Amino acid sequence: MKIFLDSSDINEIKPLNKTGLIDGVTTNPSLLAKQQGNFKQILKSIANEVKGPISAEVTAIKADKMIDEARILQKIAKNIVIKIPLTLDGLIACNYLIKKKFMVNVTLCFSVSQALLAAKAGATFISPFVGRLDDIGENGLQLIKDIRTVYDNFNFKTKILAASIRTVTHIQEVLKIGADVVTIPPKIFHELYKHELTVKGLETFLSDWKKSGKQIN
Ligand code: E4P
Repeated sequence: MKIFLDSSDINEIKPLNKTGLIDGVTTNPSLLAKQQGNFKQILKSIANEVKGPISAEVTAIKADKMIDEARILQKIAKNIVIKIPLTLDGLIACNYLIKKKFMVNVTLCFSVSQALLAAKAGATFISPFVGRLDDIGENGLQLIKDIRTVYDNFNFKTKILAASIRTVTHIQEVLKIGADVVTIPPKIFHELYKHELTVKGLETFLSDWKKSGKQIN
């Protein structure tokens, strides 16, 4: 099971990468647009910091232009994964790029039928958006469950990358279902390790220890 960070901010990524727990990063055009500076430099510094797959998304609409952009993005770093939207042109581009040995993350997935087509196109990752489905009153977690079932039924190798994560519960649930990867906004990552009883327990241990006058060194 892998943890990716859902961020384009190197200042958020670097400190969290120090944990040794980060297996990759997902960016998207909206996240990159918020950052100051040259987007290629930003992607390069992220790819240099985190050694796993770094998703960088094409912005073209037509398959041939997506492929041109994929070639440009791929040159930024060896660990760049080309992120392609789940459209007909996206599936054509995915199929082509996979044959050319690119890694592809098919994004903006909201249904089982979309996930099935991405797997048949050979996608390395499929990104179902849990939170955005919940936002419109649908059940994002059920989608992850259904994709898991279909992929297992037909032994598809495409990795399920649970995206659009809003809560710690989302993370716990997608992992129980069997998502291969979860991409987590840095803010939510910090909620993963925090617990009120850990804070209280530590305070008690340290104050008892201090009162005893004992020292480790
Ligand atoms: C993942 O690849 C997407 O970039 C991201 O998870 C989208 O999340 P949002 O719905 O919170 O924007």
